[in-house]
Amino acid sequence: MRKIYIFDTTLRDGEQSPGVNLNMQEKVEIALQLEKLGVDRMEAGFPAASPGDLAGVNAVARAVKNASVIGLARSREQDIDAVKEALKDAQDPCIHLFLATSPIHRKHKLRMEKQQVLETAEAAIRYAKKYFNKIEFSPEDAGRTELDFLCEVTEMAIRAGATVVNIPDTVGYMTPYEFGNIFKTLKEKVPGIEKIQLSAHCHDDLGLATANALAAIQNGADQVEGTINGIGERAGNTSLEEVAMALETRQEFFQAKTSLVLSEIARTSRLVSKLTGMVVPGNKAIVGANAFAHESGIHQDGMLKEKTTYEIMSPETIGLKESKLVLGKHSGRHAFREKLVDLGYNLGDDQVNAAFAKFKDLADKKKNVTDEDMIALLEEKLIETPEVYALESVQVSYSNQSTPTASIRLKKLEDGSIEEAAVGNGSVDAIYKAIDKATQEDVELDDYSIQSVTQGKDALGEVHVVLKQGDYAVTGRGVSTDILEASARAYIDAINRLIDKRKSPARSSRDNVTLI
Ligand code: KIV
Ligand code: ZN
Repeated sequence: MRKIYIFDTTLRDGEQSPGVNLNMQEKVEIALQLEKLGVDRMEAGFPAASPGDLAGVNAVARAVKNASVIGLARSREQDIDAVKEALKDAQDPCIHLFLATSPIHRKHKLRMEKQQVLETAEAAIRYAKKYFNKIEFSPEDAGRTELDFLCEVTEMAIRAGATVVNIPDTVGYMTPYEFGNIFKTLKEKVPGIEKIQLSAHCHDDLGLATANALAAIQNGADQVEGTINGIGERAGNTSLEEVAMALETRQEFFQAKTSLVLSEIARTSRLVSKLTGMVVPGNKAIVGANAFAHESGIHQDGMLKEKTTYEIMSPETIGLKESKLVLGKHSGRHAFREKLVDLGYNLGDDQVNAAFAKFKDLADKKKNVTDEDMIALLEEKLIETPEVYALESVQVSYSNQSTPTASIRLKKLEDGSIEEAAVGNGSVDAIYKAIDKATQEDVELDDYSIQSVTQGKDALGEVHVVLKQGDYAVTGRGVSTDILEASARAYIDAINRLIDKRKSPARSSRDNVTLI
């Protein structure tokens, strides 16, 4: 079995998804979970993009011990210096340099001839070599680059000192046959190719990212790049969980495997979805809510007789397990602790106490508290932004004959309670107007989504919002058995994040720098 290295770029290419904006604490939280998942390499950000990005990469580099941490850089000295600074505390640092090579990018974006592209990239790799032992080079838009020029670029990168050459299908244009053929050709034609690793980086514009990554593996790729849940620019990147499970399920066919701890897939997917606010569609392969659900009578009958009739993978493999212990309002601290351990949480006494109080609140409203409820509660509890405002109460008066009115009471840090009321076009609008009045923040609601985290009439609802204020965009989330309360909590969470963001100059890479 060949080992396929997994290069996760959830925190860089994934974070480039529209509306996604992770703060430093959230980046570290995801990085630590990726470490548990067993990724070999993780790209933590683009340090030259902003001081905030640099600080985020640095925080990840300090926290992660068992994976190589990577920073992205254009082929420029100041970008390389920024990565050097960001990764100064990393156990196993690596720089990822890129420069576009396709005729379209050379002509319209870079305005460079082939020779200039070769020289610029070579100078950058040689400069980076002074500081890094591990260098990955990406000829951006490799998929649309002339194959003989791509061979030349790869040969130059090897000579200059790259240890990995990554082949990005930047615009998701390739078909599996064509993409596989690039790897086959590089392997056959480029002198010294055996000295480096070849990597595949695919985008999903035509829905072919996973198929293309697998075709690359079949043709000699040593590494696959991608993100959890396939998040990323436009239609996203290769879903790493899809590649890992394809290799696991079809081992005999691919003769290759990853070192991922597959049972951490479900938890990682949930965490990424929660923190990015990018909801996983129910029918998404591997991690969608319906991926292991069987609806039709014929399928259910087959499953009851023999699971393999309709199930090619078991949900347990990715860490979805049936609960043995059902928690409710009569459950005590002992059962609660057991459940935490069962779900993989290792909390200190104070955290257990805080989470137990929240659990008791929920158990009063909901008969059975499921594993999903617990995870939603815990993840909300454990990943908190410093709170300036906290919700004390929300009251809504609604009838389909009159204008909805909302009254809100917020607790302001060290400043007592504030009460406000407002009318709106709907109940949520009225709540948001009352919160605006109470906080005196001038914000624009850019996105609102609601999702049921669990099933049944008493399910927990999770609301995600994106708020904008000038150049800043932040996400907020709230969980409750009541969707109006969840809506209020999400909005207040976003306002707290906005205030936190204004205090530090940290901005997302998308705010001020483009990847050229
Ligand atoms: O898609 C792409 O080309 C990239 C590069 C920076 C590798 O993300
Ligand atoms: Zn990309």
